[in-house]
Amino acid sequence: MSGQDRATRQRVLVAEPIAAGGIRMLEEAPGLEVVQRFDLTPSGLSAALREHEALIVRSKSRVTAELLADPGRLRVIGRAGTGVDNIDLDAATRAGVVVLNSPGGNAVAAAELTMAMLLALARHLPQANASLRDGRWERGRFLGVEVEGKTLGLVGIGRVGREVARRALAFRMKVLASDPHVTRQGIEDLGIEPVTLPDLLSRADFVSLHAPLATGTRHLLGGAEIGAMKPGAFLVNCARGGLVDESALLAALEAGRLGGAALDVFEEEPPSRAGLVSHPRVVSTPHLGASTVEAQERVGEDIAAKIRDYLCSGTILDAVNFPSMSREEGAAVRPIMDLAERLGRFLGQVAVGGVRRLELRCYGDFNRQSLRPLAMAAAKGVLAPVLAEAVSYVNALGVAAERGITVEEARSHEATPFAGLLRLTVDTDAGRSTVAGTLYTAEHPRLVEVDGVAVDCSPRGSILYFRNRDVPGVVGRIGTILGKAGVNIASLQLGRGAGDGMAVSLVGVDTPLPAATLAEIAALPDLTAVRQLRFPD
Ligand code: 3PG
Repeated sequence: MSGQDRATRQRVLVAEPIAAGGIRMLEEAPGLEVVQRFDLTPSGLSAALREHEALIVRSKSRVTAELLADPGRLRVIGRAGTGVDNIDLDAATRAGVVVLNSPGGNAVAAAELTMAMLLALARHLPQANASLRDGRWERGRFLGVEVEGKTLGLVGIGRVGREVARRALAFRMKVLASDPHVTRQGIEDLGIEPVTLPDLLSRADFVSLHAPLATGTRHLLGGAEIGAMKPGAFLVNCARGGLVDESALLAALEAGRLGGAALDVFEEEPPSRAGLVSHPRVVSTPHLGASTVEAQERVGEDIAAKIRDYLCSGTILDAVNFPSMSREEGAAVRPIMDLAERLGRFLGQVAVGGVRRLELRCYGDFNRQSLRPLAMAAAKGVLAPVLAEAVSYVNALGVAAERGITVEEARSHEATPFAGLLRLTVDTDAGRSTVAGTLYTAEHPRLVEVDGVAVDCSPRGSILYFRNRDVPGVVGRIGTILGKAGVNIASLQLGRGAGDGMAVSLVGVDTPLPAATLAEIAALPDLTAVRQLRFPD
């Protein structure tokens, strides 16, 4: 690979093993280079991630705020799996780094492990297996219980919880679920009884956790909740270690309050708390919930495709710190986001004074989209040209809020001459500026209005923008100066204001103007504003 190739290639750091199919997909994508490093220490990861556009992890790597304080080239983190509690999402969002995950791809694997754990607890399988291996034949010691007719309480009824429920119902268990994020009707439609957490704990013979780990769910099962479980009940945790207070669990097991616990996940991994995994009524595995051939193929290939699509075409799918959209929604909204960003860039370069407020109005067909991503794109466009820090779709609203800039979006049902139209208004200390744009096709954004003056301009490359008194000779004088400087004019758009004697001109140029040429133009009579604008090609 030549030095030039290397400079233009985007690098993907794979910090934990993912399926070979995923690696192949990334290696085959034009312009991507894949680096696999499974041996990185936290400081090694900190140094390495800055040199890569993308990072792929599973649950072992901790992507902390410290690591993300100086993200260097990093633009996206892919989690080959569901849980993102090992990634500091706020820090990623502040740094403008998109975090993508692969929800659902390992739900069946996690549900099947949960069922295996439930049955292992009910029938003492690991203990009986160990005893037989030790040469004993202890049929009387391992008297189990049937799960049929027993009550299973699911704490969380998302993708994994639902898969567990389907299997438990096939085993003829009575299934209860508590989930503050799902309606009673939604739970009932699954053939499950919706209950509160206290009700679930007091009624379930088996309690199984299926909630994500977040600030509000840490120690969801603390001493009080474990104490409220039915005497002799079993606890299964194949979700996240931090959901259970392990000291309280160990105390309850030692006091004989619980029948047993099956744990695939721990507060610290590998587990450090003495006595828990060695407890005779604990069945444990080393975080194997997603460890099946099928699940690894699914999530590895899924996250590789999402990283490739983000780096190669800007598609954001299943981001946990950006509005979620399907592949089809993404394809429809991307050109409109690009338009919104170009309108933002226009005003970011033209508006005078400190920005106080942005308002994006959508008309016609563009109203079919969710507006938030469009507002994020417009805010990025306005802020990126004026701020030294990196502004991305992901952190644009946060960066705006930090500066006291309000960002509003609205739908308008007013008719316009265009199938779809976006109108962006920026209020600054010095006044108000407005620009509107449409899409001729997905690849052809156009500016169609500047401060109420109709124009028709492709917002790409270098554009010389000026406002002038609508008198003869202005454009001719500017053309002469550009010709003298060897700057070729690629397009010319003139628009006249409604009776105020002012005009707006947008001159597309093949090469940026030297500073002296710009100064010479700015000194001409009859001009009130001159700016050289830059847009992505
Ligand atoms: C997940 O959150 O997807 C599971 O816990 C799997 O984690 P792993 O990718 O580290 O096996």
